[in-house]
Amino acid sequence: MSIIDQRYEEKFPASARMYEKAVGYFPSGITHQNRFAEPFPIYFNRANGGVKYDLDGNEVIDYVMGNGSLIHGHSHPEIVAAISSQVAQGTHLGGNTPFEMEWADAIMRLVPSVEQVRLTNSGTESTYLAIRLARAFNGKPKILKFEEHFHGWHEYALPSQGNAPPASVPQAIMDMVIVVRPNIEEVEEVLAKDPEVGVVILEPTGAHYSCFPLQPDPFLQQLREVTARYGVVLLFDETITGFRISKGGAQVRYNVEPDLTTFGKIVAGGMPGAAIGGKAEIMEMMSFRGEPDWDNHRRIGQGGTFNANPPTAIAGIVGLKMIEERPVNERADALAARLKAGLNEAFVRAEVPGFAYGIASLVNPMIGMEPTGDYETPVISYEDRRAHMTGKRKGFLTKAMLTHGVHVMGGQVFMVSAAHTEEHIDRTIQAFEDSLRELREDGIV
Ligand SMILES: Cc1ncc(COP(=O)(O)O)c(C=O)c1O
Repeated sequence: MSIIDQRYEEKFPASARMYEKAVGYFPSGITHQNRFAEPFPIYFNRANGGVKYDLDGNEVIDYVMGNGSLIHGHSHPEIVAAISSQVAQGTHLGGNTPFEMEWADAIMRLVPSVEQVRLTNSGTESTYLAIRLARAFNGKPKILKFEEHFHGWHEYALPSQGNAPPASVPQAIMDMVIVVRPNIEEVEEVLAKDPEVGVVILEPTGAHYSCFPLQPDPFLQQLREVTARYGVVLLFDETITGFRISKGGAQVRYNVEPDLTTFGKIVAGGMPGAAIGGKAEIMEMMSFRGEPDWDNHRRIGQGGTFNANPPTAIAGIVGLKMIEERPVNERADALAARLKAGLNEAFVRAEVPGFAYGIASLVNPMIGMEPTGDYETPVISYEDRRAHMTGKRKGFLTKAMLTHGVHVMGGQVFMVSAAHTEEHIDRTIQAFEDSLRELREDGIV
């Protein structure tokens, strides 16, 4: 057994016992495919600010941060107070509420391209709805997406999304999705050849929270120009980047206005909620017009029992207001810059080739490749990324870091929050250096 696995088993015995039981309840014992881990995943039962605790009582500095939804950290007291007071006054009022409007207004203030909003329960629902709206708007059925870009787990998002194969997706649907690399010549070639492509969807800073970085400047501007020229809807999936890459997301930071945007995670203040917004003329594909043919046959319908439920809406309002009015992003970005610099020094001290890069409060380690000199959006080919950040390396980095009390999301991203402290960051840098040495000792790097 590797030294890392041995230390992992010694440190987390309660999780090992829990996992033995869990496999009797859930396929593979898990409730989200990304939580699968060998020999077993860790079980957590509480969290606060920048840390969480496992069943053995270990404190863990958390960079999963609600899969990226907790830019304010765990259980921010103002969000907790707001949710708690609403829960006592109703979790579902079975009708419209003033809260949904306040939530939409907060989104629209931060993201100027959004003229109208609809609220959903997940990023997956938002990207699915966005694709259908785009189709209804221009009548073109096909979707252009980029290799590895993740947009949830509905069928149109499954081709080349990196986390799961498009198993069981009918060929007719696969034929509707064209996958290319984020290269403007390839995009233009597809749009010129295939007039049935009606929407281009992307993670605007690159696949998997920028692990496969693209160069947003000038790629996003080029994409805007090309899609406009071909009458194609430009859809930014800002589920991760929204309210993180800047207060207004990637589109504000890089000054590009998409036609539609999907939001999740941060938009709902750490509660299970999401949104879609964009140009009114596209969003209006959901409106009732009082014309039977339109209303009954052509309008895009949207349901969702828990859409805009009051506790979620209120968490969204409070969370977004904090982003608007306080230096939340500035604080998270500064901590991330400290982390990124420290990880880059750790690679040198541990004598392991590699570097850390990332935008705003996202920090991505890249083990095995020499630095390119750009620590924000470096040019890393898909081949290099796959050759160096293998499943084995990511898995063992995650485990090694956990034994040092740090949880790195998927072994490939640190989602830094405003609730982390300088002390957390410095402990993380030391944990990373120690983990790199252990990876080398175990022959993983
Ligand atoms: C860019 C992106 N889009 C969509 C989704 C799907 O969101 P959800 O998990 O809320 O369905 C995710 C989830 O991680 C994401 O990162």
